[in-house]
Amino acid sequence: MEFKEKLRAYKATVESAIGEYLPSEEARPSRIHKAMRYSMRAGGKRLRPALVLAASELFSESLNAMPAAIAVEALHTYSLIHDDLPSIDNADLRRGAATSHKKFDEATAVLAGDALLTYAFQLLARHYGANPAICAQLVAELSETAGSERLIGGQMEDILGEGAPLSPETLEFIHLNKTSALIEACLVMGGILGGATEAQRETLRAYGREIGVAFQIVDDILDATSDEATLGKSAGSDAEHDKTTYVKLYGLDESRRLARQHTQKAVQLCQSLPGKTAFLAELAKHLETRVS
Ligand code: IPE
Ligand code: IPE
Ligand code: MG
Ligand code: MG
Ligand code: MG
Repeated sequence: MEFKEKLRAYKATVESAIGEYLPSEEARPSRIHKAMRYSMRAGGKRLRPALVLAASELFSESLNAMPAAIAVEALHTYSLIHDDLPSIDNADLRRGAATSHKKFDEATAVLAGDALLTYAFQLLARHYGANPAICAQLVAELSETAGSERLIGGQMEDILGEGAPLSPETLEFIHLNKTSALIEACLVMGGILGGATEAQRETLRAYGREIGVAFQIVDDILDATSDEATLGKSAGSDAEHDKTTYVKLYGLDESRRLARQHTQKAVQLCQSLPGKTAFLAELAKHLETRVS
């Protein structure tokens, strides 16, 4: 299958699985389930679940990776709902529609985020509990990634850095943790489900780290150069909050060069993995040149 077709196919199967796995809007209390489904709706690129599926498919032993793919998308969506809150990035638009706190209210948005974060682990326990060793590894990977030393740590330093010029080292810490951490975890979780060896998991992690940093560099570039209609989310928000980004620290040209460098490293890394690695190589290149 051609790359773009495969990416579209992942997106479509993930979206139908989201509809299937998430609690129904009718479940009591309806408001929280409506808010969870609202933020998980179409509009997201579904990059992270596609990575879980693609990584698992490199190997022969794969368990059904879809529940894990939906778990990471739920966790990612929680991080976006909270990232958009007035006390963090104060954004009005996400995935082409009003952010959760604008559509509902702040209390509901906080709770919808909490619920999606928790739901990620419910999904892992429900679907992989019959394979305790696999389940424990998935939970360990996702919880380490989402915790205070990684995703939350990156978000904390991102906020602490507002209004102050940051060093390249701090900016790298932020990107590696607020963004790369979860992207790495998607690949490692796919590897766990597929039966990857420890060495293969480390290669998957290294690939994830490179595309993750490139992904956030491109996110910074798009925030500075694109518009709301194209992005489906607020543009110009980083400058408004006086954040140190790649664009601010290095300028546009150098940021593009750095994104390319990380992408090339990722392409090299995935070539040493087994199976059909062309999709991961194409995906890395696609993310470098994405416009939304
Ligand atoms: C946005 O992630 C948050 C960042 C880490 C930059 P995405 O750009 O993947 O957002 P969706 O899932 O497509 O909405
Ligand atoms: C947020 O980074 C990353 C997480 C949500 C963990 P940004 O604040 O740059 O993401 P966007 O631009 O709002 O999507
Ligand atoms: Mg932010
Ligand atoms: Mg933001
Ligand atoms: Mg951004």
